Amino acid sequence: MDFLKKVQSYREEEENLKWEGTFGEYLDMLRERPYLAQSSHSRVYNMIKHAGIEEQNGKVHYKFFDDQIFGLEEAMEKLVEEYFHPAAKRLDVKKRILLLMGPVSGGKSTLVTLLKRGLERFSHTDEGAVYAIKGCPMHEDPLHLIPQHLREDFADEFGVRIEGNLSPLNLMRLEQEFGGRIEDMPVERIFFSEDKRTGIGTFSPSDPKSQDIADLTGSIDFSTIAEYGSESDPRAYRFDGELNKANRGIMEFQEMLKCDEKFLWHLLSLTQEGNFKAGRFALISADEMIIAHTNESEYRSFISNKKNEALHSRMIVMPVPYNLKVTQEERIYDKMINQSDIRDVHIAPHTLKVAAMFTIMTRLKDSNKNNIDLLKKMRLYDGETVEGFSDVDVEELRNEHHDEGMSGIDPRYVINRISSTIIKKEMTSINALDVLRSLKEGLSSHASISKDDRERYLNFISVARKEYDEIAKKEVQKAFVYSYEESAKTLMDNYLDNVEAYCNKSKLRDPLTGEELNPDEKLMRSIEEQIGISENAKKAFREEILIRISAYARKGKKFDYSSHERLREAIQKKLFADLKDVVKITTSTKTPDEQQLKKVNEVVATLVEEYGYNSSSANELLRYVGSLLNR
Ligand SMILES: Nc1ncnc2c1ncn2[C@@H]1O[C@H](COP(=O)(O)OP(=O)(O)OP(=O)(O)O)[C@@H](O)[C@H]1O
Ligand SMILES: [Mg+2]
Repeated sequence: MDFLKKVQSYREEEENLKWEGTFGEYLDMLRERPYLAQSSHSRVYNMIKHAGIEEQNGKVHYKFFDDQIFGLEEAMEKLVEEYFHPAAKRLDVKKRILLLMGPVSGGKSTLVTLLKRGLERFSHTDEGAVYAIKGCPMHEDPLHLIPQHLREDFADEFGVRIEGNLSPLNLMRLEQEFGGRIEDMPVERIFFSEDKRTGIGTFSPSDPKSQDIADLTGSIDFSTIAEYGSESDPRAYRFDGELNKANRGIMEFQEMLKCDEKFLWHLLSLTQEGNFKAGRFALISADEMIIAHTNESEYRSFISNKKNEALHSRMIVMPVPYNLKVTQEERIYDKMINQSDIRDVHIAPHTLKVAAMFTIMTRLKDSNKNNIDLLKKMRLYDGETVEGFSDVDVEELRNEHHDEGMSGIDPRYVINRISSTIIKKEMTSINALDVLRSLKEGLSSHASISKDDRERYLNFISVARKEYDEIAKKEVQKAFVYSYEESAKTLMDNYLDNVEAYCNKSKLRDPLTGEELNPDEKLMRSIEEQIGISENAKKAFREEILIRISAYARKGKKFDYSSHERLREAIQKKLFADLKDVVKITTSTKTPDEQQLKKVNEVVATLVEEYGYNSSSANELLRYVGSLLNR
């Protein structure tokens, strides 16, 4: 019942948004709200702007893409700044076809769909409202009614520039039904909808022999020719091609370069001149953003053909590379799994992360710097701190290869492997080892991977496996420590107090007795020794930590135990060292005594309650770590 109420109130809201009137009334409205007359390009840009723009460390972040596109901030920034924004300002790029170029399953279609759905929603808002000549199959812009010779005056008065000519159909209506009185022509508010073929069009190439240009530009309606007497009567023509229907909005051109040339030329004249030829009519004006996409190999073969030069110069090519951040890749998998039927299967923590590590490594290119391997590079790209590298280094790494992210393993492959594991084994829970195994098996049947790449990829699988081993061990050890985060924080705070006193040659005050104490050398050393800091090096290490703390304070950032990678490692090892034997024995014994059993149950409970495992994946983890520790 509640749901039906929602349906009803939605219908009412829709009803309230509707508007119908004469062109005269529309002009009154336009005087108040000149933005109603914006071009399709400008509407797309305003939609993006409307979702919010943030500036973070000199980088512009467009929130519009946040929910669907992960890890491509730079590509999106470039896309908005080099295409959407200047096109909205009627600069020259507007006259080019936007061609998104990127590797398979890299999110091109997702991006276009996001724009299309976004525009549908935006047309329901005030800022994105669209008005059209009522009953026009192309939802023609009412301003086309204004005759050419009055347009300058119009621009002076309304501040709106008009592009495009009245279509033959509306010209005829204007003359026959309204005796040329433009002010009486009916205008209505329209709402973009791909389903209803309003303002959103899609064209995808099929068999070039059977595909007809009419799919794009409409066709003669033979059933009415007899009635109207002539093929050049606009009433005998059906303006129902994709280019007609997409007028005022977006037209998506899928796999553009697979298309026959004759289709492309229509697009060119449309983008270049703002009009296209249909039937036996004068040119028909249309205002729509054309977004095409293609993959890299098709693009390469396209530009290598001299014949395509003219076409090429009329496109603006924007790369949509693969995401290169592990955490963002995890989000992609998460999203894809949630959209699928396998979403009910328990996926043990770190499973997607480990799969993502593998995937990202296949996409990265080796650096020329000699102290960095792909694992480190992967961490740096993901925003982790790696000892010895700064933000400047990361920027340099990014600039080393401009085609990074254009090859490697695609997200769909990973999801397919995860699904096939689940289906084949009828498992109710899977972990990182299952997925790595499946990824590995799949490589031999993956058609488009060369022999060399396969070798490299197999190596990445074992690198990811080693990473997982470390993660698994740490996870179990953590679960053995009673409230790990707190213990780590307490130990670190304690250490830092002592380090501060040591460096400043001051004393500490005992919080209970108020007594003055010397820095606790034994405690500090017991931590430092965990990461091999010698007696001679301890002073430098302690000072470096203090410098780091003050640098953090200056930037207003909070220093916590993850702010210094080596210190974190030392604290962790110190906490684990005290437990090592307990963990080893408890996890690997086949015949646990009562106390061990109790501990195992406690640890399993912690893993389930705090770390997101279920009892079967937690037990699996314990067994695995037990076997690792006994190797
Ligand atoms: N950067 C990304 N952010 C979010 N999702 C992504 C990203 N890259 C890929 N995906 C997901 O991967 C799947 C495939 O993406 P999509 O179909 O958009 O790719 P495509 O570039 O159009 O591929 P193709 O060349 O095969 O047509 C989708 O489920 C999409 O959500
Ligand atoms: Mg696609």
